Amino acid sequence: MGLAPEGEFYYDKVIKPEEEEDDDESDSSEESDSEELMMHGKGNGKREIRMIEHYSSSHRILLVGEGDFSFSLSLAKAFSSARNIVSTSLDAHKDLEKKYNKGTWNVRELEEMGGLVLCGVDATKMSQHFFLSTQRFDRIIYNFPHVEYIERRCLRISKGREEDQETKRMITKSKLNKQLVKGFLTNAKVLLRKEEGEIHVTHKEGDPYNRWDLVKKAEKIGLALHESVPFCKHKYPGYDNKRGCGSHPDDPFPLGDCTTFKFRLAP
Ligand SMILES: C[S@@+](CC[C@H](N)C(=O)[O-])C[C@H]1O[C@@H](n2cnc3c(N)ncnc32)[C@H](O)[C@@H]1O
Repeated sequence: MGLAPEGEFYYDKVIKPEEEEDDDESDSSEESDSEELMMHGKGNGKREIRMIEHYSSSHRILLVGEGDFSFSLSLAKAFSSARNIVSTSLDAHKDLEKKYNKGTWNVRELEEMGGLVLCGVDATKMSQHFFLSTQRFDRIIYNFPHVEYIERRCLRISKGREEDQETKRMITKSKLNKQLVKGFLTNAKVLLRKEEGEIHVTHKEGDPYNRWDLVKKAEKIGLALHESVPFCKHKYPGYDNKRGCGSHPDDPFPLGDCTTFKFRLAP
């Protein structure tokens, strides 16, 4: 993937200008009635724009906190390209194979489709990342933020009854998750394109997720809720939500009702 002088990605292989500007569009064999494929004129040429849910092949998309990279790959397949995608995980590259059955395979496929995969990226520090700091994105996505497995000794509460200790552990976990989403939002804001850029966070409904106060936190950081919509896994073919930590990182976790919160820069 080449870098433009301003530090942005080239879309040379995504944008396919047509030979003739004034041809009859109805003759185009590539044109489709599908809502998901549109032909957009730009300058002297046209390009196909493919959509999946809230995401478009014309967006520069940054994915954060990926598990086995199946969400990124689902987008890439819908776009028939991953050239507009930068996909990141906290995991080191060498751990992907250990943690996930399809991790390295999905990464390879993403890279073959032109995507950029970066491992070892901490969402709470990513605005300082040597490469990401030079980029701006239209969509920054973190699905199901959750801190890594916290070793029991970190959460050991030495005094009190077992139930009290468990409650204290839950409170500590919740605090760490709040810090994670706050750190993510703060960093994502820096990397967000000003015009109509959106940060998307998806989490489960109910306790303890609703206690994260995501919207309030975002507002304090200078982000405004644009909309919140139900998240439906089946709309992303191939996506497998992963625990990502503990003794079974490759296992899915039950989803139930989930919401995607879309934030924009506050006016
Ligand atoms: C519940 S899993 C969800 C994984 C994936 N997004 C999915 O939908 O399958 C939570 C993920 O957050 C990641 N994570 C935890 N702390 C992080 C951090 N500081 N920066 C980036 N990712 C983090 C974990 O590595 C894990 O993959």
